[in-house]
Amino acid sequence: MALSIWGPRKPLDAGNAIAEHHRLRKTLGWPHLVALGIGAIVGTGIYTLTGVGADRAGPAVILAFLIAGSVCACAALCYAELATMIPTSGSAYTYTYTAIGELLAWVVGWSLILEYSVACSAVAVGWAAYLVGWLESAGIALPAMLLAGPHAGGIINLPAVLVALSICGLLIAGTRESATVNIILVVIKITALGAFVLLAAPAFSGENLEPFMPYGFGSSVDADGTTRGVMAAAAIVFFAFYGFDAVATSAEETKNPGRDLTIGIVGSMAICTLIYVLVAVTAIGAVDHLLLAGSSEPLAFVLRFLDHPVAANLVALAALIALPSVILVMMYGQSRIFFVMARDGLLPQRLSKVSPKTGTPVLITAVTGIFVAAVAGFFRLDEIAELANAGTLLAFIAVGACVMVLRRTRPDVKRAFRCPAAYVVGTLTIIGCLYLIFSLPGLTLLRFLVWNLIGIAVYFLYSRARSLAGKGRPAPGVPEDAI
Ligand code: ALA
Repeated sequence: MALSIWGPRKPLDAGNAIAEHHRLRKTLGWPHLVALGIGAIVGTGIYTLTGVGADRAGPAVILAFLIAGSVCACAALCYAELATMIPTSGSAYTYTYTAIGELLAWVVGWSLILEYSVACSAVAVGWAAYLVGWLESAGIALPAMLLAGPHAGGIINLPAVLVALSICGLLIAGTRESATVNIILVVIKITALGAFVLLAAPAFSGENLEPFMPYGFGSSVDADGTTRGVMAAAAIVFFAFYGFDAVATSAEETKNPGRDLTIGIVGSMAICTLIYVLVAVTAIGAVDHLLLAGSSEPLAFVLRFLDHPVAANLVALAALIALPSVILVMMYGQSRIFFVMARDGLLPQRLSKVSPKTGTPVLITAVTGIFVAAVAGFFRLDEIAELANAGTLLAFIAVGACVMVLRRTRPDVKRAFRCPAAYVVGTLTIIGCLYLIFSLPGLTLLRFLVWNLIGIAVYFLYSRARSLAGKGRPAPGVPEDAI
């Protein structure tokens, strides 16, 4: 049994033994992977948080997208190497368990819970804003009390709660997004963003870009208590980029992982960064950033402002159709993380029980859905997106570290994809993510700290004593001799 100061480690071969047990057919090529990546990445981040980013950085939100995209590109390359080396579920949690040790893996898993579930809540809130704008433009007004939580004078954001619970119901019933549906949704999302760029570009005025950095580069607290600056904006629009872990986790099903994963990950990231920068440049160039900052459906707002009401409604419709798929992918990812943590003995096994009727982990999916709906119903979009980002950034730091640790400790293991200049890219991932974490508002960092302290308490009071790796026992499905 491998031990470190971070507790027991999961043997690499055990993970691969599970993969061998459940061998998947290798059917995916790079075009599928690019589509998978774009499908999981493009969502509330670009459709809604562009407005929040403009509030934080002014016109320099464009720069914020570039910075966040570059950090994510480094993390994505690290993900790709680990995904081909350790092709089992659990993503950053499993990599950390294998490379470093159980305690840190637990912290990463606990953070991933935040990444996936709170991000679902954020996408649900972004979706609700587009729904309300769309209904209002059709002359249907819903009672304001049911459209926002107490922070904005309402009771609950009901549309956000309903979309979260509906997706949860679909997952319990066993819905998986098929490749064909994904491609259709990708086409809808990209067409809508392309149409936005074409319609907003003619209204571009250089004056709207000045001053470019009204709140400076670093993140600092303004007189109204909001954390502003280019880095503060980068720390929130970072939300727009993740989801590419979905590409890395398909390593087992990829025909030629070395080539296809590189093109899939780097390609989807490059395409999204390009689209995001184009959307941000045209949106900021078309209207004063102060107007953009106040909108909860900024892209539709810009088009309405430019007197394109039909196009505005079509872009809103595209968001309404396509955003729920991002919730579906992330809520599914969340239930997988819980599932793997329970299989390792760190969470109650009961949670991971798969219903014989639907073939899905019903209890854990329901718990996740209720948590996602509650957060979506009562909290502000920027606050929840920032909290989800904190969890994701910690997971990315772990992934950057794992690549470098495993290059030293397990140079012998075959890597179908090798991260180029791994030590440079791994270090850049860690530094970039740390810079983004510390650019988040103090309150978000405090909440994140409290979340992790609760997690560490759960680990020492419950999980540590029940860990299968701690007892030297294999997880179900792994042969004894793999330990
Ligand atoms: N990147 C995803 C989004 O923007 C989470 O919705």
